[in-house]
Amino acid sequence: MSNFDREEVLCVHHWTDTLFSFRTTRSQSLRFINGQFTMIGLEVDGRPLLRAYSMVSPNYDEGLEFFSIKVPDGPLTSRLQHLKVGDRILVGRKPTGTLIHDNLLPGRHLYLLGTGTGLAPFMSIIRDPDTYERFEKVVLVHGCRRVAELAYETLITRELPQDEFLGPAVRDGLIYYPTVTREPFRHTGRVTDLIETGKLFADIGLPPLETAHDRVMLCGSPAMIADIRTGLDARGFTEGSMSEPGHYVIEKAFVEK
Ligand code: A2P
Repeated sequence: MSNFDREEVLCVHHWTDTLFSFRTTRSQSLRFINGQFTMIGLEVDGRPLLRAYSMVSPNYDEGLEFFSIKVPDGPLTSRLQHLKVGDRILVGRKPTGTLIHDNLLPGRHLYLLGTGTGLAPFMSIIRDPDTYERFEKVVLVHGCRRVAELAYETLITRELPQDEFLGPAVRDGLIYYPTVTREPFRHTGRVTDLIETGKLFADIGLPPLETAHDRVMLCGSPAMIADIRTGLDARGFTEGSMSEPGHYVIEKAFVEK
């Protein structure tokens, strides 16, 4: 287990009966790029039980924060959901992932499209000052089934705009677009439909997606990623990677836990 740090749980927040977040201590030697994930987990019967989790916290935060679903019979989350302050968790020392700025070509607008816990990597990206230096507008779309699942809404809409350092960039550059599919809300419908019908763009006052000025990061279920990818490919967007930057990058939200 030399590839792991044992970090202490500092606080736990339950958003709903299926979603929770927790903060831990962070080893001073852990380095990551905002948007990346690492393996985290618990030692069960002397063996590490690990899953990939994106860092919610930005890389200048002295702690670490993670956002998780609770799967009643999930090997890890059935245990993780009972975490208490003072418990220890394993945190992998080698963060990785594709949702990083260098994998994208330069552009004017950055679309961060996340469903469910797919919001997690975007929470660190919207707190990265570099994001606002690279893009004029940053559009964070979070799709959920229910209003209560719109985690971090208060942080995004109230705390960040008032933040001493990030506040001006956030007020000027960040557009937050929460959308709910199974309850009434001010924005409803799947991200895919909002893009295809053009409603998203009409609502936020930006032109429909075009390779010339738009870049996209996707994080959600395999079905959500497949559907959005089809739409992007049809518009001529290409997927970026470490070896060659492109118009969009994807990461699966790690759901089967
Ligand atoms: P819906 O309620 O219509 O299934 P989940 O919790 O299942 O991951 O879903 C999170 C959000 O993602 C829900 O709003 C869900 O809408 C939406 N969603 C599920 N599948 C897709 C898809 N293929 N494309 C876009 N959005 C999707």
